[in-house]
Amino acid sequence: MTISFKDKVVVVTGAGGGLGKHYCLEYAKRGAKVVVNDLGGTLGGQGGDSKAADLVVEEIRKLGGQAVADYNNVLDGEKIIETAVKAFGTVHVVVNNAGILRDAQFKKMSDLDFQLVTDVHTNGAFKVTKAAWPYFRKQNYGRIVNTASPAGLYGNFGQANYSAAKMGLIGFAETLAKEGENHNIKANVIAPLARSRMTESILPPPILEQLGPEKVAPMVLYLSSENNTELNGEIFEVAAGFYAQIRWERSGGALFKPDDTFTPESVAKRFDEIMNFDDSSKPDLLKNQHPKMLNDYTSLVDAAHKLPENDNSGAPAVSVKGRV
Ligand code: NAI
Repeated sequence: MTISFKDKVVVVTGAGGGLGKHYCLEYAKRGAKVVVNDLGGTLGGQGGDSKAADLVVEEIRKLGGQAVADYNNVLDGEKIIETAVKAFGTVHVVVNNAGILRDAQFKKMSDLDFQLVTDVHTNGAFKVTKAAWPYFRKQNYGRIVNTASPAGLYGNFGQANYSAAKMGLIGFAETLAKEGENHNIKANVIAPLARSRMTESILPPPILEQLGPEKVAPMVLYLSSENNTELNGEIFEVAAGFYAQIRWERSGGALFKPDDTFTPESVAKRFDEIMNFDDSSKPDLLKNQHPKMLNDYTSLVDAAHKLPENDNSGAPAVSVKGRV
């Protein structure tokens, strides 16, 4: 099996350095027409410089590949997709990779720290993907890779803003996976760890040595390739040559019957059951609720899934235990 991106147009955001740059080079080597997006700001999101993207494009062209630079902020996602369409006619792959850090202990985290980080990571990914979506649907083909982080999955000291933004990208991809399913659009997520300006000042050199971006790129390329016909809405942790899938696990749970008293005390009494994973399940769809849940609830969700496209006016406002 050879994985080729011949005739594929790939947009990688934040690709002037680090992981994104490496992805671009690999895509180009495999025949892709690449849009190298980067506004060239600082790690904290200040300033801008077209040099970062230009240098990557230059490197790709020297290798005989095809690429154009784009210097727009991901929050102007439509302009980035416009660059792709103007240069290459359409877009097949979006890698939402742009990112900034504004770490601070939560007690010191400002509104601006929280907003700028969620803007670049989550809202930026929304804007770029939203602009690419009509092309994906029209050509019945699209691949999206969102970049989450172990900090989003597990939390990390000083990164409340970043963790929230990264976890948001997971829910975003999981819903796109479901909405894109019938249009051959696949959206997946990676949670990487790699050597870049984001980690260079916090990890010791012997560890950094093992965290080359070339160890993350293969997963991104596979997920966004035509060869990926199955994986959709999945999350993968990728670092130092280790590739693993992350999924949710729900405990066997406790069902409180109508004749039980619905009080905090009765919940407290049954926490052993609520947290017992002996009889656990791996939910991956809102409607795949635990059999212990009410039948009425399940049919409500089924009804929501059957709503005609573009009509969510009558969708029930669902709020469920577990993943929601
Ligand atoms: P990086 O700082 O080298 O790359 C991020 C790039 O995004 C920079 O070149 C920056 O100029 C660009 N960027 C920032 N804001 C932008 C905006 N508004 N519009 C367009 N471009 C913008 O860092 P790295 O490590 O390569 O990060 C890539 C992605 O991987 C990020 O989303 C990061 O959060 C994520 N990640 C990285 C990890 C690591 O260990 N390096 C760990 C977990 C996640």
